Amino acid sequence: MDDRQSSNKWDWIYATREMAGVGWYEPDPVVSRELVDDAVAAGGRSVIDVGGGASWLADHLVELNLERTGVLDISEAALTLARHRLGERADRIEWIVADLAAQTDIGRFDIWHDRAAFHFLLEPESRKRYVDLATRTLPVGGVAIVATFAEDGPERCSGMPVQRYEPEDLALAWGPSFHLRGSRRHLHHTPAGVPQQFQYSILERVPSQPISSDDRSAGLPART
Ligand SMILES: C[S@@+](CC[C@H](N)C(=O)[O-])C[C@H]1O[C@@H](n2cnc3c(N)ncnc32)[C@H](O)[C@@H]1O
Repeated sequence: MDDRQSSNKWDWIYATREMAGVGWYEPDPVVSRELVDDAVAAGGRSVIDVGGGASWLADHLVELNLERTGVLDISEAALTLARHRLGERADRIEWIVADLAAQTDIGRFDIWHDRAAFHFLLEPESRKRYVDLATRTLPVGGVAIVATFAEDGPERCSGMPVQRYEPEDLALAWGPSFHLRGSRRHLHHTPAGVPQQFQYSILERVPSQPISSDDRSAGLPART
């Protein structure tokens, strides 16, 4: 599927389906909230939710009053839904329409959050581009929170095949610029009541070996 087909597919899903009926619907993204809050408590001052779609996580992020808050998605229709829901508060978020497997720069964010976008990338080259973007975006000490279907989770999401991971597999896929700092499992129930096993990996950006010139190595501000 090329980028255009992919964005059209997601736009079509967001334009035609009720959000409260899609499998990934989560009115209170509690695990994401807690993990982002931990990363903020550890010194993160900016956050981006990649593949954020119309997630209700944005409603929480906007209240954190960070220096920079972004939501990125391939589907403009998804971001429009979230913007409308947030009303005036939407102005405090940067809304970025982009393909994670093609975008090369979004500036710097201290915290990267992804729930159920990375697992759609099945081609090694697409995964590499995604990880390159995360590597360029996060400073050394920055944190990536990456939720995917776990090994015992479903094989498909919205009819599309996904790559399932355990935290150790995910860390391998992300490569040496990230260290696995922790993980959580979460049993999500779709609106239809179907259980789906997720894993959340917490990866810390570490210096690349050797340190590449594109490292944004300023590091996180000291905890105050
Ligand atoms: C299963 S939904 C999850 C949405 C949101 N993270 C949540 O938890 O509610 C997957 C999201 O990833 C987005 N997505 C899929 N492939 C993408 C890509 N290559 N680049 C950017 N976004 C992508 C879709 O548009 C969709 O919003």
